Amino acid sequence: MTTKSSKPTGRRATVRVKTARGRTVSSQRWLQRQLNDPYVAEAKKRGYRSRAAFKLLQLDDQFRFLKPGGRVVDLGAAPGGWTQVAVERVKPGQGKGQGQGKVGGVVVGIDLTPVEPIAGATVLAKDFYDDDAPAVLQELLGGPADVVLSDMAAAATGETQVDHLRIMGLAEAAHDFACQVLKPGGSFVAKVLRGGTERTLLDRLKRDFTKVRHVKPEASRADSAEMYVVGTGFRG
Ligand SMILES: C[S@@+](CC[C@H](N)C(=O)[O-])C[C@H]1O[C@@H](n2cnc3c(N)ncnc32)[C@H](O)[C@@H]1O
Repeated sequence: MTTKSSKPTGRRATVRVKTARGRTVSSQRWLQRQLNDPYVAEAKKRGYRSRAAFKLLQLDDQFRFLKPGGRVVDLGAAPGGWTQVAVERVKPGQGKGQGQGKVGGVVVGIDLTPVEPIAGATVLAKDFYDDDAPAVLQELLGGPADVVLSDMAAAATGETQVDHLRIMGLAEAAHDFACQVLKPGGSFVAKVLRGGTERTLLDRLKRDFTKVRHVKPEASRADSAEMYVVGTGFRG
């Protein structure tokens, strides 16, 4: 049962950013957007490390894959918003686990960038493409996963084609990993971009999951090509 809204509450006056020496037009635009973004304000208010936390809250409110006692892998976890939401919802260390006699939920993450510790989660500072990354994550999970999340995105190069290929490569690697670790009935969520190669991944997902949806949560900025693909009912 969701107790908190996954949307910002209240309206705030628009903040205008004055031009300042040394500030580029794009950094001024970025700052103005941050200061006026209700999700940024709400994340700060609720102690989430990123506004991205609301994307996962909204996806989970729609699909209900984060259940108390679940084992979750969070790929591309920094700065930790999704990990915080996963911990809140699977409640590590409380109640009975969903498999293999483990007590409570388990949340394991990985990112190139180190993540400040989050109580209830273990987050590795490591490249997901490292050969040993899947095995290390699996070991930490201690059993088959209920959910594999991937919000991984490589730093933008500005070359649309290159950025697209890189993000889709990460989503495909996450999907391969999900097929190794998910238990039957498990769920997979990955960031993708609207465009060409998405189709290939979609076809693979349809083979492996009983239900596959493309969604853009309200918290995902309208001017971004970002979308999320959600696969539920892993066939195993
Ligand atoms: C959009 S951010 C994730 C935000 C996060 N979900 C949150 O709520 O705070 C994307 C992350 O993917 C990570 N990333 C990109 N490539 C990666 C890789 N090969 N291995 C691990 N992490 C990667 C980046 O370092 C970045 O922190």
